[in-house]
Amino acid sequence: MRLSRYFLPTMKETPSEAQIASHRLMLRAGMVRQSAAGIYSWLPMGHKVLKKIEAIVRAEQDAAGAQELLMPTIQPAELWKESGRYDDYGKEMLRITDRHEREMLYGPTNEELITDIVRKDFRSYRHLPKILYHIQWKFRDEVRPRFGVMRGREFLMKDSYSFDLDYAGAKRSYETMFVAYLRTFAKMGLKAIPMAADTGPIGGDLSHEFIILAETGESQVYCHRDLLDIDVLAEPIDYAGDVTTLVERFTSLYAATDEKHDVSKGAELGDKLVSARGIEVGHIFYFGTKYSAPLGASVPGPGGENITLEMGSYGIGVSRLVGAIIEAHHDEAGIVWPESVAPFHVGLVNLKTGDADCDRVCGELYGTMNGKGIDVLYDDRDERAGVKFADMDLIGLPWQLVVGPKGLKAGVVELKYRASGEKHELSVESALARLAG
Ligand SMILES: Nc1ncnc2c1ncn2[C@@H]1O[C@H](COP(=O)(O)OP(=O)(O)O)[C@@H](O)[C@H]1O
Ligand SMILES: [Mg+2]
Repeated sequence: MRLSRYFLPTMKETPSEAQIASHRLMLRAGMVRQSAAGIYSWLPMGHKVLKKIEAIVRAEQDAAGAQELLMPTIQPAELWKESGRYDDYGKEMLRITDRHEREMLYGPTNEELITDIVRKDFRSYRHLPKILYHIQWKFRDEVRPRFGVMRGREFLMKDSYSFDLDYAGAKRSYETMFVAYLRTFAKMGLKAIPMAADTGPIGGDLSHEFIILAETGESQVYCHRDLLDIDVLAEPIDYAGDVTTLVERFTSLYAATDEKHDVSKGAELGDKLVSARGIEVGHIFYFGTKYSAPLGASVPGPGGENITLEMGSYGIGVSRLVGAIIEAHHDEAGIVWPESVAPFHVGLVNLKTGDADCDRVCGELYGTMNGKGIDVLYDDRDERAGVKFADMDLIGLPWQLVVGPKGLKAGVVELKYRASGEKHELSVESALARLAG
């Protein structure tokens, strides 16, 4: 992509409405624009990152055996009346009346809708177990939308739902998602710690919030220091085999959100206790027959007996993750994208647009990289070098390849690694080789 043609409205000034780094940087880097409180448009670069995150989430869900479908954003109110949540949900739910005076709503979550599908189409115990998911926009009329996409009113969520014949099966589904979540977040360069969360009237211990530690986090959290050192991607996982060992490695160490924090247990950890602020990026929950019972989602078992399905639900805040990743990966100058979610792999900076040599070499580099499938953003604008450097640092692509007239006379270009600031002068060929490798 040529920057001169790209819709990337960067800003030098810090927008006054933004209180935290990720919100400021997403506005400054031209990733999002607010259209109403807590409702955003995703501009091309923000959209590209959102799609990359979505793809990582999807790939791990698929690997774990979950099946993608797509449910609508608008749902009929009747289903929510059946489950009893229509009144409980209160003002957070955006209620809509259609032209025939039918009560509808913009879905804040999908337990009712998925259970409705399943109750009609699962006809035998042989159809189970199943984990179904979709990646769809949600609307929750939050009292205080804030921090940009971190707490929006309209936001993108991946929500999975598991259906099993018994508790043992439901626990297995839960653990499968637990592991998938660990791996999903790690692949985005995040250390997300599963923390015991409130199970409400369901009871038991099958509810975890996946939390990344960040000063700007909305919740207070506590965990064992060793949890931060586990590398979940060190070994491959076989989702058809043992998932429990990895789950237990995590659940055997103390980790809890404020609501569930046990002060005496925390004190026992001494200096192994980390007390920090956290951002919830995912939440998994086993809730038994809470929805399947009132909605009548059951199947005949092998002996013809009626089995009410055991369910769990598993959410990931896809749009929140864009902000959360920036909270975890930025510096004074701007964003520092982990490679897996970076909008482009490399920014090619032409220090002197209009100079015949610079234009020619940049043009060749741009063509070669595109040919090799290296995703490159070429800053071919007629701007001062200072502006180009500042914008490149702001948008935080992993690599910057800088081409200037002086360097070219000496036969070199400069390759900078954004995360460390390390710079190397290299021949065009070796720079290309590095970027391809
Ligand atoms: N208002 C919001 N804006 C952005 N992301 C959200 C919002 N509410 C929830 N999420 C994301 O969706 C995930 C699943 O939501 P859920 O646990 O049902 O929400 P809550 O924690 O508000 O009950 C959360 O872990 C979070 O990452
Ligand atoms: Mg939650």
